[in-house]
Amino acid sequence: MIPVILSGGSGTRLWPLSRELYPKQFLPLTGGERTLLQSTVERISGFPGAGVPLVVCNEAHRFLVAEQLRAMGVEPGGILLEPVGRNTAPAVALAALSQKEPDAVLLVMPADHVIRDVEAFHRALASGLEQAEGGALVTFGVVPQSAHTGYGYICADRSGQWSVVSGQWKKGDRKRTTDNGPYAVAEFVEKPDEATAESYLASGDYFWNSGMFLFRASTYLEELERHAPDILAACREALAGEAHDRDFVRLDEDAFARCRADSVDYAVMEKTDRAVVVPLDAGWNDVGSWSSLWEVGEQDGAGNVFHGDVLAEGVSNTFVHAGQRLVAAVGVEDLVIVETGDALLVMDKGRTEEVKAIVNRLREAG
Ligand code: GDD
Ligand code: MG
Repeated sequence: MIPVILSGGSGTRLWPLSRELYPKQFLPLTGGERTLLQSTVERISGFPGAGVPLVVCNEAHRFLVAEQLRAMGVEPGGILLEPVGRNTAPAVALAALSQKEPDAVLLVMPADHVIRDVEAFHRALASGLEQAEGGALVTFGVVPQSAHTGYGYICADRSGQWSVVSGQWKKGDRKRTTDNGPYAVAEFVEKPDEATAESYLASGDYFWNSGMFLFRASTYLEELERHAPDILAACREALAGEAHDRDFVRLDEDAFARCRADSVDYAVMEKTDRAVVVPLDAGWNDVGSWSSLWEVGEQDGAGNVFHGDVLAEGVSNTFVHAGQRLVAAVGVEDLVIVETGDALLVMDKGRTEEVKAIVNRLREAG
C-alpha cells in the first residue's frame, strides 16, 4: 500500500498563522512538535505493508515538504510538484498514473487532518483493504456531529454487505452481521446545502466523508476515465513531459494548466457505483478552523486551550495561540485569540468560519 499525501491546500481559515506560502499542514498546530504533515506520515508508517509516502504538493512548497520529511528521517517515494492547484481529482490522478505497478493500492490522505486514535484508524484501514484489492473505491465515514455544509455525506447501504466474488464487486445478500461495515455506498453527496445536510443528520443514515480514500490506482483511473475523461487526459499529458530532479517530479506546466479543476468527491465519488464506506471512529478532525483546534486540543478545567506564553484570569472555553509575545486575557469566554508577531486576531469562537472574509479583504488590498 502506497500512502499518497495531498498537501495542496492553503488553509485560509487558519489565518493569521496559516499563510499561502506557509499553509497549515506545515505547522505544529496541535501544540506538539510534529507538524500536521509529519503527523500524517507518522500515522501511516506503523501500518503493516505501508510503503514510502508519495507527496503531491504545489511547487512553491517543495522545500517545506522535503525538509519536514527529512527532519523525521523519512525518504519519500517521490514529491510530485503541481505548477498550479487543480484540486484533488487531478492530484490523485497524477499519483495513480505515476505508479509502476498499476494495481498498487493507494491510501489517499489529506496532509492537514488530526486522528487521535491511530490504532482505530489502522483497524479501519485493515477492514477496507480487502475491498480496495477487490476493485472498490473505499471511503472512511465519520459519524456526523453537525449539519456542516463543508463535508461530503455518505449514505451507507446497510441492507447487505458487499463481497468480492471472483475478483468482482458484487452486492452480497448477506444481512448485516456487524455495525462495522464495510458497506456499499448508496449515495455520496458532496457539500450539500444546509437544509439537505440537516435532513441527512436527522436521518441517522449518513456519515461525513473523512476525505481519505483507499483504492487500486487502476480502479481510480478506470472511474476517472468513465466520469471525467478530460481530467485523465490532461494529467497523462502533464506527466508525459515530466522531469525528475532528485525526489522532485515536475510536470509539463502548460498541459497541467489546461486541466479542469475538480475534486475527487465531485468528479468521481458522487458518480461511481463502486464506492464502499468503512466507518471510522478514531477521533478524526480536519482542523478546518480555529474552533476545531480548540476541539482537538488539551482543554484545562475551564475548557481553555492555550498554546505558547499565555496568562489568563477568569477565562473560559477560549483558545489562545501566543506565537511571539506573551498574551494575557481577563474575564472573557468563548473567544479565539491568535497572535503571530505581525498580526493579532480576536474573534467569537462560534464564528471562526468568517476568517475567510478577512483573508479576502487582505487579498483585495494586495
Ligand atoms: N496536491 C494537492 N493539489 N492537494 C490539494 C489540492 C490540490 O490542488 N487541493 C486540495 N488539496 C488537499 C488539501 O490540502 C487537503 O489536504 C485535501 O486535499 C482536501 O482538500 P480540501 O480543499 O481541504 O477539501 P474539503 O475540505 O473542501 O473537502 C474534502 O474533505 C472533507 C473532509 O475534510 C472532501 O473530501 C469532503 O467530502 C470531505 O468531507
Ligand atoms: Mg479540508
